[in-house]
Amino acid sequence: MGPSWVEIDPGGLRANLEALRSALPKATEPVLVVKANAYGHGAAQVAKLAAGAGVKWFAVAYPDEAATVRRAAPRARIVLLGPADPAEVALLARLRVIPIVVDADHGRSLAAEAKKRKVRLSVHLKIDTGMGRLGFPWSDAATAMGPLFREEGLKIDGICSHFARVESGRDDPARAQAERFFHVVEAAEQAAGRRLFRHVSSSRAALLHPEWDLDGVRPGILAYGYGASDAAGRIQTRPVLQWKTRVVQVRRVPAGTAVGYYGTYTTPAATTLAVIAAGYADGYLRTLSNRSHVLIGGRRCRVVGRVSMNWITVDAGLYASAKPGDEAVLIGRQGNQEIWADELATLCRTIPYEILTGINASIERRYTNPHPQTGT
Ligand SMILES: Cc1ncc(COP(=O)(O)O)c(C=O)c1O
Repeated sequence: MGPSWVEIDPGGLRANLEALRSALPKATEPVLVVKANAYGHGAAQVAKLAAGAGVKWFAVAYPDEAATVRRAAPRARIVLLGPADPAEVALLARLRVIPIVVDADHGRSLAAEAKKRKVRLSVHLKIDTGMGRLGFPWSDAATAMGPLFREEGLKIDGICSHFARVESGRDDPARAQAERFFHVVEAAEQAAGRRLFRHVSSSRAALLHPEWDLDGVRPGILAYGYGASDAAGRIQTRPVLQWKTRVVQVRRVPAGTAVGYYGTYTTPAATTLAVIAAGYADGYLRTLSNRSHVLIGGRRCRVVGRVSMNWITVDAGLYASAKPGDEAVLIGRQGNQEIWADELATLCRTIPYEILTGINASIERRYTNPHPQTGT
């Protein structure tokens, strides 16, 4: 991989987790979502740090992610948010991972495999209350899940759902989903003859709907410092990931200089062009061509021409003092300037999730605290 690197601020991440923890009631467990390499932040390090900060529950999409979290947090409870393959039952049992069950057939085949392996698998039922993705369709969930409570191979410990859309205020479409969920929960708990661990909210619902805190909430993006800008939100968090690289060439050019593939930019006046070492192969989206900025020397420099596979050209300004080797910030802070993933996301009509998870996983992650506090 190229010479760029990612810096994660452990103190900032701890502060975000603390903000979450203190906003939630004591009885509600944060279930920290660390899938997709903890949204680009590094699943092993994030899980270790979060476990050290008191987080007991984690959520992942795939068994290999669960294995990473298990190594980093030996006592954690880990929920698998993707539908497990029955062939993975032995592995999941060994890792003490709690898979979701998405329908009756899925539950039966997990149970059969568990029985064959002489294990009893702790699982959570996943109810599709309107997301239109994974889970028992809410309308007949009560009937469909009934027989699973009699399967020897399964220990149904929890029940969950996921919101498609959450808004503040009375017309929130998530309300219908929540009502459906509570309806199914009632039937499930009756069939189980005991209370189940209920979790339904991810970041946005956690931010706007304290009434749905239940036994667990599953924040992802909020813990990484995004999505908390809604004034109605009860939690404030800050981004903790910065992405940096180096300037590799600097040139003074006259007006009329075409820049990059297909010359999509021509300098209107004499200026200084700086080439920095990052490109779309690293996860810096090509749709940011001629749109975004990077920080060099504490100043915003516009990306000019097409973002290419490994290099980006920026206009550093006529009087720039940039030189090869200087630090360039793609996401983060330099001097008093900041560029965060939500700014890049807006420019390419996507969401900060895609920007963060798109940063190539092979790029080095450094865990540094830019403002170390004495005595901690
Ligand atoms: C089922 C489920 N729960 C929770 C989350 C976390 O969502 P967010 O990052 O918006 O908090 C996700 C994210 O994709 C998810 O798929």
